[in-house]
Amino acid sequence: MYLWGSHLEGLENFTHEFNKSIEFDKILFEEDIEGSLAHVKMLSEVGIISIEDAEIISRELKNILKEIKAGELEINLEEEDIHSFIENELTSRVGDVGKRLHTGRSRNDQCALDLRLYAKKALNSIKKELLDLIVEVISIAEKNKNTIMPGFTHMQHAQVTTFAHYILSYGQMFYRDLERLIETYNRLDENPLGSCALVTTSFNIDRFMTTKILGFKKPTENSMDSVSDRDYVLEILFNNSVIMTHLSRLCEELIYFSSSEYSYIKFSEKFSTGSSIMPQKKNPDMAELIRGKSGRCYGDLLTLFTVLKGTPQTYNKDFQEDKEALFDSVKTVFNSLKIIKGILNTLYINKEKMRISAELGYLNATDLADYLVLKGLPFREAYSLVGKIVNFSSKENLKLEDISLGKYKTFNEIFEEDLYDYINIENSLKNRNVYGGPAEDAVNIQINNLKNLISKIK
Ligand code: ARG
Repeated sequence: MYLWGSHLEGLENFTHEFNKSIEFDKILFEEDIEGSLAHVKMLSEVGIISIEDAEIISRELKNILKEIKAGELEINLEEEDIHSFIENELTSRVGDVGKRLHTGRSRNDQCALDLRLYAKKALNSIKKELLDLIVEVISIAEKNKNTIMPGFTHMQHAQVTTFAHYILSYGQMFYRDLERLIETYNRLDENPLGSCALVTTSFNIDRFMTTKILGFKKPTENSMDSVSDRDYVLEILFNNSVIMTHLSRLCEELIYFSSSEYSYIKFSEKFSTGSSIMPQKKNPDMAELIRGKSGRCYGDLLTLFTVLKGTPQTYNKDFQEDKEALFDSVKTVFNSLKIIKGILNTLYINKEKMRISAELGYLNATDLADYLVLKGLPFREAYSLVGKIVNFSSKENLKLEDISLGKYKTFNEIFEEDLYDYINIENSLKNRNVYGGPAEDAVNIQINNLKNLISKIK
């Protein structure tokens, strides 16, 4: 039964199906009842409805909530939306008293409220997953401070690093994701209830009271903005897209790091699937799915941008399209964070293979140039000389550490025996003890700082 339309003809079946949102906004039943409970309490406290009526309404709303949660009451999917279902259910149980609930309220501020309440809960659960993931990253880093691996640029061997330094780079990304999430949360933590359809109400309602009951920081400032603002949904969709970008990049690397060509890591069987034809196959499907699911999150963001663009003030039915995008994005991010945490927690890290790989590709060429600079050569000259030496070595199939001192001296007399110490892979790592770098002490600082930052997050 519609909450509107005593003056209208009503919708035909197909149009009704097109119009309704209950199939997806039914998940807001708890938020909707929470909002109604706060509203009814306020109405009675300021004397707009009687205390007796408020008690009857509250008691029955709580019963409805309990029954839906227990699976005893089924949400009727023939209703227009969750707001209609709950109000109609209430009135069918308590009679005319239930009809007083919607005094000084509109579905416009009601659905804006429900979505903000949902957003707060959703962000809290994503925040927890991000925090857990950062803890996992730190634990991997602590175990791999000396796990030497090649660092890459352009996917080519570049300079030596460690698995700890590498995985902590993702720790930073996830921490920024966390910061963005918290900023968005703080911005959306405002109560739109009482804005009604667009210009508040002639009743003397107390928006500060519902704000307090519902646990918001403050009421929203302008009622027209309150019912049309979906910026916070856009922000969440954007933040989620960034999280998925980070996860997708990590998954991409884990996927090729696990290939036979690299063999740097192995996925646990718990996170791998097989092939229906090739009995030897172990496929990284979960990581691939996370990489793939980033696409739908970007789609959700673009959906809402397109929905909002060109909508006039204030509420327009277009806004009903905000929900599926938000719910889909939240679910995707939440699940992906849970899965990646499991993948990392059970990952086998092949230290030997990474160490062997770090011997290839002249990772220490920059060190050799730096050595020459220490001996007095300008860096550009050192750079071009080492370029020639690398050319020679790759033709001869030699590593830089395999070339004799005599041969080095034919390139430049400046070379001494101590060059071998300088270009040794372990030393190359140790020498990069700059703030933010891969040397053990520098990595310890990164770990401590990150631990410190997340310990401050409530
Ligand atoms: N189902 C609607 C939505 O999600 C509820 C608000 C309806 N308001 C209205 N004026 N038709 O946006």
